[in-house]
Amino acid sequence: MRGSSQGKTLVLAAALAVGVASASACGGDDAAATSAGRSDGGADAQASAQLCVDGKPVDWPAGPYEIAIGGTLPKGLVFEGPDGPVDLGSVFEPCAPRSRLLVVRNVGSWCGTCLWHAEHTKRLLDDPRLDGRLVLVDLLVGDEDNAPATTPAASRWKSKVDFAVKVGVDPKYTFSTAPLPHAPLPTYAIVDTRTMSVRTVLDNPPADVLATRLASELAQLDKAERLAPIEPRVEDGLFTEEQWDMIRAMKLVAEPPPDPTNAYGDLPAAAALGKKLFSDTALSPAGTVSCATCHLEAQGFADGVATSTGIAKVDRNAPSIALAAHARWQFWDGRADTLWAQALGPFEDGKEMGSSRLFVAKQIASRYAAEYDAVFSATPRPDLSAAPAGGKPGDAAYDALPTETKDAVTRVFVNVGKAIAAFERSLRVRPNALDRYAGGDLTALTPDQKKGLSVFFRVGCAQCHFGPRLTNDAFHALRFETGRQDRLADDGRSAVLAGLATREFVASSMWSDATSSARPLLFDPAAMPGMTGAFKTPTLRGLPKTGPYGHGGTLTTLLDVTRHYGQRGLDDANPTASGKTEEWIGMFDHGGQHDLVPFLEVLEAETDVP
Ligand code: HEC
Ligand code: HEC
Repeated sequence: MRGSSQGKTLVLAAALAVGVASASACGGDDAAATSAGRSDGGADAQASAQLCVDGKPVDWPAGPYEIAIGGTLPKGLVFEGPDGPVDLGSVFEPCAPRSRLLVVRNVGSWCGTCLWHAEHTKRLLDDPRLDGRLVLVDLLVGDEDNAPATTPAASRWKSKVDFAVKVGVDPKYTFSTAPLPHAPLPTYAIVDTRTMSVRTVLDNPPADVLATRLASELAQLDKAERLAPIEPRVEDGLFTEEQWDMIRAMKLVAEPPPDPTNAYGDLPAAAALGKKLFSDTALSPAGTVSCATCHLEAQGFADGVATSTGIAKVDRNAPSIALAAHARWQFWDGRADTLWAQALGPFEDGKEMGSSRLFVAKQIASRYAAEYDAVFSATPRPDLSAAPAGGKPGDAAYDALPTETKDAVTRVFVNVGKAIAAFERSLRVRPNALDRYAGGDLTALTPDQKKGLSVFFRVGCAQCHFGPRLTNDAFHALRFETGRQDRLADDGRSAVLAGLATREFVASSMWSDATSSARPLLFDPAAMPGMTGAFKTPTLRGLPKTGPYGHGGTLTTLLDVTRHYGQRGLDDANPTASGKTEEWIGMFDHGGQHDLVPFLEVLEAETDVP
């Protein structure tokens, strides 16, 4: 953070005073370059002249040391990377005949706008005006889930960049650019390699604007004419090239990705059984609650209330599940890594369905035997005629059952989850006006809706809400209000990290049909303070029907949501939210808050239920 680079500054200033005081003009090429300079380049010429003593470089240029326009990059900025440490100071070349530009990008693997820039890096470097004079370094703040960046995440990132860049990890975002607080990513800091002075910083610049800006910086350093800034090329009168690409990539994908952990996931007979189980209230001992109690087709598969009520009132808002089969993690905190494992949660949750695996298995035996056996013939059902009416691990009567019986009961329970997941996988969302627009029908959106979409890009929403479901499936702290009945702040992701690997039903467990496809689930929560108060980015498809919004369901209208973002979430002192709003979330005014709404209202998700 800025504080820590200031810490470094003090030490540096002392070390540098000597070098700078004894500096004199350079000889050789550099002097020649300097004397050819234009008169208004005097300050630059002097700065670089001071750095070369008898043709040899001094230790480091003078301050002020800050990552801000006119500042000097602090010395000692070294970041771990997949190919060893990345030392920004290693590009310092005070005696080089011509300056190059060190271009440092702040990026996150979870960040859609960053991904676009990564995938189009080569074009920047191919620009003849830049003539091989750029040194690119990407500093990665977080991985695909927005967990703090690690070197394996950095090497995955590197493979996404279409050009050889150096990648370092900066999990604490120490390299944040001072003049751009809360700027959306990617940010670019552009540094002259002969003076280490920060020439400019830019946030999420259009690619063509960026290339011209870099060329202009080089021209100035060469003492040539500064290039006139250009306006970005736009499509449909409004969207820059990268925005246009990202809009086209929002087009709905109908089929969910395969789920190898559920061998029954795409069997029509499993989906047909799952459909019945989904709305069968008899699977709860009270006979009153089913999945459909809180995920109603008519409500976009959510329930329209702030926090749902099953057996009792729960602490979070029910998300729409129309597209759940496409998601990487389930629940607001991502505590399930497969759809079938998610479905087992509500049954044994005392507030939701108040049921148990033994109760469910007995219901299957008495009411669904033929349909169940037809699908799950590979794992015969146990004879439960002598078993108690219900029970789950922790209940004395259940724990006393023989292990084979308990395993067989759990197998039936898991298969129920897999059948329900098959049903959820069979849901198909219909294309909406955004899809028609993304498909090339420029009349599909009204001018107001297009304006909202352009604001959506401008204020940084597309960092996280991008792609066909308008989500990155990652976890972010944005200080939305708690929905807990006790009004305490909800810690979200950080509260579940430690226990994920040891959960009974995960993709790596014996209940999975493809343990090899499981993602690693070992996290060190202590190393991940940024995950406090972090929740999964929800899909935005379905918004017109899925309010109220946020994990606690406390925001009634879409305007309430955009106001929330415009103010960077609840303030830090407010006890009803936990964590800190992430650095790359920017403030924006009432105009922007209102302009966004017509676009969000476009995002219908009418669902076809087979
Ligand atoms: C009492 C209301 C209630 C019942 C009953 C219920 N759910 Fe939910 N569902 C919720 C709530 C609330 C959440 C969010 C909970 C959380 O994230 O901690 C949720 C989350 C989910 C999710 C994750 C969606 C996402 O985007 O993360 C899926 C999928 C889901 N439920 C499916 C089901 C299925 C299948 C059943 C029946 C086995 C079921 N639900 C029963 C209220 C309910
Ligand atoms: C850093 C990632 C990130 C950015 C940037 C971001 N969002 Fe979100 N969005 C999230 C997360 C995470 C949530 C859930 C937060 C919670 O409930 O705690 C969310 C929730 C929402 C919701 C509520 C959806 C629901 O079903 O409850 C809406 C609407 C929304 N965002 C719109 C926007 C808009 C508009 C912008 C730009 C102003 C934006 N988001 C910027 C990650 C992001």
